Amino acid sequence: MQKVDHHFSFEVYDSVDELPESDKTLIHKARTTTAQAYAPYSNFLVGAVGRLSNGELVYGTNQENASFPAGICAERVLLSAASSLFPGVAIDTIAISYDNRNGESVRPVSPCGICRQSLLEYENRFHHPIRLILSGMKGKAYVVQNAADLLPLSFTSDDLK
Ligand code: THU
Repeated sequence: MQKVDHHFSFEVYDSVDELPESDKTLIHKARTTTAQAYAPYSNFLVGAVGRLSNGELVYGTNQENASFPAGICAERVLLSAASSLFPGVAIDTIAISYDNRNGESVRPVSPCGICRQSLLEYENRFHHPIRLILSGMKGKAYVVQNAADLLPLSFTSDDLK
């Protein structure tokens, strides 16, 4: 038997003010973009903003549905928009925030399992890491260097060969 250890680390900032100006701008836009979410069932409004390698910004918000499983997360809306509007362009950084109308929005949000899988596909497709900046409307920010870090022992196109 062999035991495999997996190491994961991410950066924790007590305030977004500790981050470079370009990151702060992206977080601010993610926070304001939460207002565009359609989340009448959860009251959990998520905003995501991606900065592409060509400098363009792409936005995504969660879009819910009375048939709950038909809803889609902000991250996957953003990835679909980026792929459609700027095909062939990698994503450098995505900032994600949320407005929890049922409570506080202080704890950084972390992408759900399906979104981690979708982010990983995007990274693999472009052979380019996507840096993730996670935060709420205020408080700490987490920085994860790539989406693959969030999904160890993942299923990828290699498994289909
Ligand atoms: N949601 C996102 O959009 N992104 C996340 O990272 C977590 C969850 C959405 C899905 C649903 O509309 C609402 O937040 C509550 O789960």
